[in-house]
Amino acid sequence: MSIITVKQAKSIAGVVELPGDKSISHRAAMFAAIANGTTRIENFATSADCSSTLGCLAGLGVRFTRDGNTVTVEGVGKRGFHAPSEQLDCGNSGTTMRLISGILAGQAFDSTLVGDDSLQSRPMKRIIEPLGLMGSVIHSHEGKAPLTIHGKTPLTAINYQPPVASAQIKSCVLLAGLHADGVTSVIEPVQTRDHTERMLTWFGVEVAIGETESGKHISVAGTDELSARDLIVPSDISSAAFFMVAAACLPGSSVTMPNVGLNPSRRGVLDAMLALGADIEVADSAENSNEPIATITTNGGIRHRGERNVLRGDIIANLIDEVPILAILGTQLEGGLEIRDASELRVKESDRIATVVNNLRKMGAMVEEFPDGLHVSRSELHGAEIESHHDHRIAMAFAVAGLLASGETTIHGAEAADVSFPGFFETLRSVVS
Ligand code: S3P
Repeated sequence: MSIITVKQAKSIAGVVELPGDKSISHRAAMFAAIANGTTRIENFATSADCSSTLGCLAGLGVRFTRDGNTVTVEGVGKRGFHAPSEQLDCGNSGTTMRLISGILAGQAFDSTLVGDDSLQSRPMKRIIEPLGLMGSVIHSHEGKAPLTIHGKTPLTAINYQPPVASAQIKSCVLLAGLHADGVTSVIEPVQTRDHTERMLTWFGVEVAIGETESGKHISVAGTDELSARDLIVPSDISSAAFFMVAAACLPGSSVTMPNVGLNPSRRGVLDAMLALGADIEVADSAENSNEPIATITTNGGIRHRGERNVLRGDIIANLIDEVPILAILGTQLEGGLEIRDASELRVKESDRIATVVNNLRKMGAMVEEFPDGLHVSRSELHGAEIESHHDHRIAMAFAVAGLLASGETTIHGAEAADVSFPGFFETLRSVVS
């Protein structure tokens, strides 16, 4: 376990190059694998999670080359995988396990997915159920991994409304839908990140989107084929969030991050920070492989408002991974910050409500815990011994808290950051003054 010590900082400044978006990189690798032809993916995420996806694809006989952040995948088509000779290891990555299950459910062979202790304690019934309705039989350990997937070809098309707002469930069902007879629809009462829909379109699949009073209906037909097409992955807004919050909380700071993905269903952190009074400039807006991107500059200082600050409702799905770092921001806001409707955080890489609350209390913050969120009051933070609980976002959020706290903060299990942002601590050190 690696230990990192962070000291209070005056300000941060510089230009930060972020890793490629993790969610988009997973999809790029998987979709390129089931496409016909060769796809070159630029700015592929350096994260350990995305390497887990590549490892699983290699176990299914997919060939790729990796040159720095460029990955070139030789697509095998929807039916071109080899039956794996070993278990497929998804590591710490929920996205790998839940999305690839949708592909494996429609294959003419069986496969077993495993993961680390954290992943094997996370809920998988949410994908076992719809894939079961589609005709695949999945054996699990009481709804958790290891998962043994007995593929079926073709699968049966379904109309499915996930019990929780989850882009992973949506994507799993749509990927299975590509292997089904007929049209598969997912109904989303609350919009979740739509990278799958955008990327399927990029690869030439027709994705029908409609609205009814029950929500958004996203449909794909089982006969659709994917055609290989080169793409560039935007930089990861979830990684940008740590620098945005650090810069906003340290007066005199200014941090610029180019090519950040600003998909409307992912940019909740930016919208929330602007609403909370942060000084953030968005420039050079463009579109890249069906995803909006822009350069973001965050300047130090927050325009204080006397109001009660609450994040709840539909925006939560669009900033779900940024809640830990937004809770740190809350310690610096005049009205504090309440975050609700976020019970999904209980089943992330750690129970993120509990890990944030406990670590913030260790640093002297006044925090109230709710089943679905927390309330943090404006607090003077002091250095403390912090546990990452093997959770990358906890390790990085509390490194930022360490910049704001008096004295020294020690992060135990700092290596967890590699799951989404290898080099995070070096990058942070390079902007501190
Ligand atoms: C992701 C969706 C979200 C998010 C995760 C990545 C994705 O999970 O928390 O980090 O790439 O689809 P859920 O679908 O479980 O909400």
